[in-house]
Amino acid sequence: MDVKVRNIPAERQKLVNKTMARVADINDTLGATREAINQMKDELLDLAKHKELFVTDEFVPAVRGTFKDFVAYRLNEDDGSGRALYVSLALPEKSSPPHNHNNWAILVGIDGVEVNRLYVADGAEGFKQIDEIAVGQGVGVALMGSDIHSIHVQGEGDVPVWQLRCYERALELQTDRVQYDADGRTKLFPPNSNTKDATVAA
Ligand SMILES: [Fe+2]
Repeated sequence: MDVKVRNIPAERQKLVNKTMARVADINDTLGATREAINQMKDELLDLAKHKELFVTDEFVPAVRGTFKDFVAYRLNEDDGSGRALYVSLALPEKSSPPHNHNNWAILVGIDGVEVNRLYVADGAEGFKQIDEIAVGQGVGVALMGSDIHSIHVQGEGDVPVWQLRCYERALELQTDRVQYDADGRTKLFPPNSNTKDATVAA
């Protein structure tokens, strides 16, 4: 009997590489525009449909109480552009304050739900929430560099919520993110340092 054994990491890497090549085409053609990030989000939503390639025991969640209950495994090799793709695992009840990224950022759901609240901060309107998106399977959010969001991870116990996260710059380089309090006052929002390399030969 011929039993075909799947090589999940290699399958995943091939699809990641294809997706990131399409993301590069979009970004190079359209620049860092709203149209571009929405098209890139659609590519990532297609990739996230392959749940069996991402929700595997290769990826272990953070121990509750460490690294703000979050870990991100890097999936793509840097192609020289700086763009970075991760699969992230976040534990229920993890949240972040409102913040921007100062680079574009795209989140799409694989398994479980992370609520994203979107805000505006400007002189005329002050600081206020303008939208709420439940990012889960088949749903994503694409943020321009100046867009402001907060995250609120849903679920039960220590069952992680899985997402793909794609950024214009690697997480560890996002040292200029700005955090907002309820009155719109700002301070720096340092990146989460809990990233691991999960690239493999395709
Ligand atoms: Fe963020």
